[in-house]
Amino acid sequence: MQQTWIPFVPPSASTLSGSVDALYFYLSGITVFFSLMIGGVLTLFVIKYRRRSPFEIPRPIAGSHKLETLWSVIPFLIAMSIFAWGAQVYFQMYRPPQNAAEVYVVGKQWMWKIQHSTGQREINELHVPVGRKIKLIMTSEDTIHDFFVPAFRLKTDVLPGRYTTQWFEATTPGTYHLFCAEYCGMNHSGMIGSVIVMQPTEFDNWLSGNVSQQSPAVAGQQLYQSLGCVSCHGANGEGGRGPALAGLFGRQVFLANGQTLTADEGYVRESIENPSAKLVTGFGPIMPTFQGQVTPEQLIQIMSFIKSLQVTNSAAPAVPMPSPKAQIPASAEATRPNQQ
Ligand code: CUA
Repeated sequence: MQQTWIPFVPPSASTLSGSVDALYFYLSGITVFFSLMIGGVLTLFVIKYRRRSPFEIPRPIAGSHKLETLWSVIPFLIAMSIFAWGAQVYFQMYRPPQNAAEVYVVGKQWMWKIQHSTGQREINELHVPVGRKIKLIMTSEDTIHDFFVPAFRLKTDVLPGRYTTQWFEATTPGTYHLFCAEYCGMNHSGMIGSVIVMQPTEFDNWLSGNVSQQSPAVAGQQLYQSLGCVSCHGANGEGGRGPALAGLFGRQVFLANGQTLTADEGYVRESIENPSAKLVTGFGPIMPTFQGQVTPEQLIQIMSFIKSLQVTNSAAPAVPMPSPKAQIPASAEATRPNQQ
C-alpha cells in the first residue's frame, strides 16, 4: 500500500478522492482557524480584563448591533459554503454515470461476494481496470454491512432487502484495502479484502483468464422461465397480465395510485417481493409474492436479465415471444423512486 505525505490520510486513487479531500481539508481548516482564534482571544481577554481588585465593578455593556450582525452573517455564509460544496460533492458521488460497468456485491457474515456482469465471481477481492467507471450494486444476505474503500473515499451501507449503489473510477493501479465499516457480528473485523486496480489490458486478460460462470443475465433468464414470470410478463407485454419488462429499467412508470416513479433496483425488488405495493396503472393485484423464494443473488440475476431486455421488437432475443401483442404504453409502467 502506498503511503501519503500526510499521516493517517489514505492514498488517493479515484477520481472522487480529490474532491472529497479538498472538502475535508476545507472543514479541517475552518475548525483549526476558529479553534485557534477562539482559544487565542479567550486567553488574551482573560489576561487583559482580569479582575484587578476585589472591589472592581465592570463597566455595563449595552450591546452592539454591528457586532451581532457580523457574528451572525459570517458564520451563516461559512455554513452555506460548506452546504453548497458538500452538496456538489454528494451529487457527484451518488449519481452514477450512465455508462458505468456494473458489478454486483453481496455482503454476508463475513465475506464480500462479488460478481462481474460478465459472470466472473470473486470473494473478498474486486478486480477493476484503471480509468473506467464502475457502478456497484450492493445488497446483503443477512445484516447491515458497509462497503468501505478508503483509497477511493467510498463508503456505503449494504442493507438486507435493499439495493444501494455507489460508483467510482480508479486512477492509479495498485492494491487497496476493502473494509466492512459497520459492526456486523463476531468476525466483523475479519470482513476485509482488497480492491485490485489493473491496467485495462491486464484487466481484460484477468477477466478472460477467469472461468466465466454463467453471466447474471443468463441465470436471470432461466429464473424468469422456471419461476413462471414469463407467462404474465412477456418482454414486450405478451401475456398481457403484467407490465412489459423490456426497457423497463430506468424508465418512468405510472402507478395506479397516481404516483410516477423511476424503475430502479429497489422498485424491481419490491415488485417481486411485494407486488401489490406499487401497482402499475392498468394492472390488477394478481401477482403472488415471491418473498423468500428468491435469494438476494437470484434477485440480482433477475434484475440483470430485465436490464438486458431492449425495447425494440426484435430485441429480447433470450425471451420467447409467443405473439407480439400490443405493447403496453410506456405510461403504463410502474416504478418506485426511493431506492436508498
Ligand atoms: Cu460486515 Cu462488519
